[in-house]
Amino acid sequence: MCNKFSSSDMAGHFVLLLFRLSLILPFIVHAQDNQSGFVSIDCGLVDEPSYRDETTSIYYTWDVNFTDTGVSRSISSKHKASLERQFWNVRSFPEGTRNCYTLFVSQGSSKKYLVRASFAYGNYDGKVSLPEFDIYLGAKRWESVVFEDSLSVITKEIIYAASSDYVHVCLFNTGKGTPFISVLEVRVLNSDAYLVNSLELLARFDVGSQGGSKIRYPDDIYDRIWTPYNSIDWKKIHTSLTVHPPSFNFLPLPPSAVMRTTSVPENDSDNVEFYFLPKYNASRYYVYLYFAEIQKLKENQIREFNIFVNGKLLNNDPVNPLYLQSMYYVSVISENKLELWFNKTSRSTLPPLFNAIEIYMTKDFLQSETYQTDVDAILNVKSIYDIKRNWKGDPCAPVSFLWDGLNCSYVGSNSPRIIYLNLTSSGLIGTIAPAISNLKSIEYLDLSNNSLTGAVPDFLSQLRFLRVLNLEGNKLSGAIPVELLVHPKNSVLKFNFPFAEQGGCLFKNKAGTRVKETRVHL
Ligand SMILES: *[C@@H]1O[C@H](CO)[C@@H](O)[C@H](O)[C@H]1NC(C)=O
Ligand SMILES: *[C@@H]1O[C@H](CO)[C@@H](O)[C@H](O)[C@H]1NC(C)=O
Ligand SMILES: *[C@@H]1O[C@H](CO)[C@@H](O)[C@H](O)[C@H]1NC(C)=O
Ligand SMILES: *[C@@H]1O[C@H](CO)[C@@H](O)[C@H](O)[C@H]1NC(C)=O
Ligand SMILES: *[C@@H]1O[C@H](CO)[C@@H](O)[C@H](O)[C@H]1NC(C)=O
Ligand SMILES: *[C@@H]1O[C@H](CO)[C@@H](O)[C@H](O)[C@H]1NC(C)=O
Ligand SMILES: *[C@@H]1O[C@H](CO)[C@@H](O)[C@H](O)[C@H]1NC(C)=O
Ligand SMILES: *[C@@H]1O[C@H](CO)[C@@H](O)[C@H](O)[C@H]1NC(C)=O
Repeated sequence: MCNKFSSSDMAGHFVLLLFRLSLILPFIVHAQDNQSGFVSIDCGLVDEPSYRDETTSIYYTWDVNFTDTGVSRSISSKHKASLERQFWNVRSFPEGTRNCYTLFVSQGSSKKYLVRASFAYGNYDGKVSLPEFDIYLGAKRWESVVFEDSLSVITKEIIYAASSDYVHVCLFNTGKGTPFISVLEVRVLNSDAYLVNSLELLARFDVGSQGGSKIRYPDDIYDRIWTPYNSIDWKKIHTSLTVHPPSFNFLPLPPSAVMRTTSVPENDSDNVEFYFLPKYNASRYYVYLYFAEIQKLKENQIREFNIFVNGKLLNNDPVNPLYLQSMYYVSVISENKLELWFNKTSRSTLPPLFNAIEIYMTKDFLQSETYQTDVDAILNVKSIYDIKRNWKGDPCAPVSFLWDGLNCSYVGSNSPRIIYLNLTSSGLIGTIAPAISNLKSIEYLDLSNNSLTGAVPDFLSQLRFLRVLNLEGNKLSGAIPVELLVHPKNSVLKFNFPFAEQGGCLFKNKAGTRVKETRVHL
């Protein structure tokens, strides 16, 4: 008698469901506070699982669910007074070349992500020695992190089109000190936001800001951070009324709090000039300019101007900012400088005004990360068996940081697929994880020499490409599914059960190879 099922198989399914729930839990918590597209992590936080920031009302959580390496440290107490609470703790990574955070944002695929990583050294290691390291987004290098002093806050921000529900942020040790991170934030934007697939932020200014403090969530529902900007040649004007976005637009426009403050030249007959020199060599820069009239003009007043970007006229028709309504212009430039002039037209009675600006450079983050279903499956396997190893970041990319015991197929620009999983002698406990059934491209599966219990599941026979299966040296029970033994694949399917001689049934698969069906310890 060769039974296919054992009762412990069902128990295995229940265990799995519980794990899925615990993965999703943090995001349900966020949804209650309307921060549903937010992941806000205070890296290295230890005292409590989460807290609500008093100024922004953003819920920050600790990072234990997003990374499994590194150590939590606190910055020196004398620096705490000068830095926001999110910077009081850091997670530092003294071990390993690459360490990663893996964030799951279920709303994210087919959307855009804003990913922001912030760092403040604060002499957390007592060495008074500023480290230098690299940060990667997925498989691609994002930036070098370089500090000016212990109190400088370095913020790197990218807006990019999501190709999966996962964001992998990795820190690379480049031999110039221990990498660490203070804050990691992800915000979900609409898929058409900013029109371009991948942009790295260089500047985001709230021109004419009154109070001199940054504006972000909850004023900006996407939690973009707007830094105050003014020039000594400009005077600030503002309204207390609300500035509205136009009914149709691609950009998430700046919030009213940013748009209702603006600057005009001190001298009414002057024009507005603005220079920006990026310290990069990007092939292209994207500049988003925002305007709104905030003064109710009298009958005989006209505010009208032209925009010149690096000497070239940007607008077709002269710009007439609309009263209490935002408008924007986008300029794409390929020079390594930005020289803006807003020159009033001859009939304009009022000087040009300027409400806000964002400057980005393009960055190619269109990358082949591992096929989403495979990532889901392997993360589940990782979580169920509590696998540590170097399983960090994307499983297959970059190739030089392929997860231990994994191999992948890389075909052209397609997403890599997991084709090989070897978890031999890994101390695995429990049943054979159902998530493995989702590794549809798997060819080699070696789970030998572990403490796996329960039945050999049917789903293994659904894995069309499976060529080698090694379950030797476990405490599996029940029968081997017949479908597995008559596996369509021509190649040999290897079964190696230690107790094969103790009453196993003998079968032949289609290729004619003798294989054994075994019942163990019943
Ligand atoms: C993190 O994981 C633990 C289990 O390790 C779980 O209890 C907790 O709810 C998860 N979420 C947060 C935000 O800590
Ligand atoms: C909650 O989100 C909705 C839609 O995203 C928005 O209209 C609303 O203003 C938000 N409420 C709060 C309190 O932030
Ligand atoms: C404003 O600029 C005009 C032309 O440049 C100049 O003649 C005038 O003196 C300036 N006014 C003030 C108050 O500086
Ligand atoms: C814009 O105005 C500035 C001075 O206000 C002037 O130097 C510049 O030539 C003007 N640009 C154009 C294209 O007229
Ligand atoms: C930009 O290019 C110049 C000249 O090729 C080079 O000197 C400079 O180091 C580059 N800067 C960066 C940030 O790569
Ligand atoms: C992964 O597979 C390729 C192609 O079969 C092979 O060359 C490579 O050595 C394998 N890598 C590992 C880490 O097993
Ligand atoms: C799995 O790895 C072990 C040693 O690490 C090796 O002996 C074994 O052949 C591998 N299994 C497969 C299917 O390649
Ligand atoms: C089986 O795994 C254990 C550790 O889990 C290891 O010590 C032992 O050498 C392994 N045996 C074989 C035959 O690989």
